[in-house]
Amino acid sequence: MKTSWTRETNKTGKMTKDPFMASPRVPLSLRSNVAPFMALDVLASATRREREGQDIVHLEIGEPGAPPRCVRQAAIAALDGSKVGYTEALGRPELRARIARHYRDTHGVVVSAERIAVTTGSSAGFALAFLALFDSGAHVAIAAPGYPAYRNILEALGIETVTIETARENRFIVTAAMIEAEHRKRKLDGILLMSPANPTGMMMSRAELRSICETCDRLGIAFISDEVYHGLTYGDAAETALKFSSNVIVANSFSKYFCMTGWRIGWLVLPEHLVRPIERLQQSLSISVPFLSQIGAEVVFDAQDELQAVLAGYARNREILLNELPGMGLDVLASDGAFYLYADISRHSEDSLDFCAKLLDATGVGTTPGLDFDRRRGHSAIRLSFAGPERDIVEAMRRLKVWLR
Ligand SMILES: Cc1ncc(COP(=O)(O)O)c(C=O)c1O
Repeated sequence: MKTSWTRETNKTGKMTKDPFMASPRVPLSLRSNVAPFMALDVLASATRREREGQDIVHLEIGEPGAPPRCVRQAAIAALDGSKVGYTEALGRPELRARIARHYRDTHGVVVSAERIAVTTGSSAGFALAFLALFDSGAHVAIAAPGYPAYRNILEALGIETVTIETARENRFIVTAAMIEAEHRKRKLDGILLMSPANPTGMMMSRAELRSICETCDRLGIAFISDEVYHGLTYGDAAETALKFSSNVIVANSFSKYFCMTGWRIGWLVLPEHLVRPIERLQQSLSISVPFLSQIGAEVVFDAQDELQAVLAGYARNREILLNELPGMGLDVLASDGAFYLYADISRHSEDSLDFCAKLLDATGVGTTPGLDFDRRRGHSAIRLSFAGPERDIVEAMRRLKVWLR
């Protein structure tokens, strides 16, 4: 069966059609009409083919392998020995204290445990932060290319997204000057940026991050710093925005560096005045984060040897891609961090949706269309994840080389 993903959005990311919305008997909210997250649509197609027996190589999704052994051991022991119940809405005090210690040990920043909120992945952290910070109609800036769920969550909450387009020539970085220029056009209530970034892997320098923190503080713009790819860097370590502002909201996760995607656990570091509103929201939205995931997360900080070995594997995969892709006419910038490369496919196609579908059909290699990350310009790019095992990366390059010949 040929793969095709429906074009459900126009160039600004607005939904153009949704066949399910047409049914007059089951009225749906407008807010549910968000764009699809294409990486997950590709994953679904690729997994369906895998179930049918096709040999698939997954480069479409940013998902590490299994977590360190101590995580599973701690969860099994807790499952056998204690009640798996609700916890405090903001998370177990032991875990909040352990996360606070992580900031002291890794960044030399003192953050009190009371400012930490444990969340169901950083994904739920964003929803909580947006609800606590913005009313519907507020304006929040995000970067393009960028992580597609930001726009979808914001729009579902009736918040207007303002897109700041970054350029390859400037290493896809949003600068303080760009934020100030946007703010002059229309008052921004918030901005959400990530470093290292998805899909480009680019990282802000310390000076750039400091300048963004200072600018947002001066202009009264809420700055949400997505730091979920911290720990995954291939040169300098990533800096936390907590160093430069006490107003910043930091979102982080156990999904990426800590390899705990399916455990669905992350955290927010909040300015003091946001702690109680977030607690009230979490009490009613999810009561608490799964108990076993909190138990696992508490011990994962102590598995640094295993985690560093995983990172070394990503670094090898990254080198393989950086060596192979240019020779196939796929232009890439070397990423600073995360586990993605954002490749220019314009020598082969101007339709990334079609390119990824054909690639999956012909070779079994899953990749994500650039349109997921940049509605206006992503037709000429794809994202490749190198979070998988090295043999998959080598095999994907072999198949891609034959297909593009
Ligand atoms: C930039 C970025 N932020 C947040 C997330 C959400 O991750 P999780 O909800 O697993 O913490 C992702 C997932 O890929 C991401 O790429």
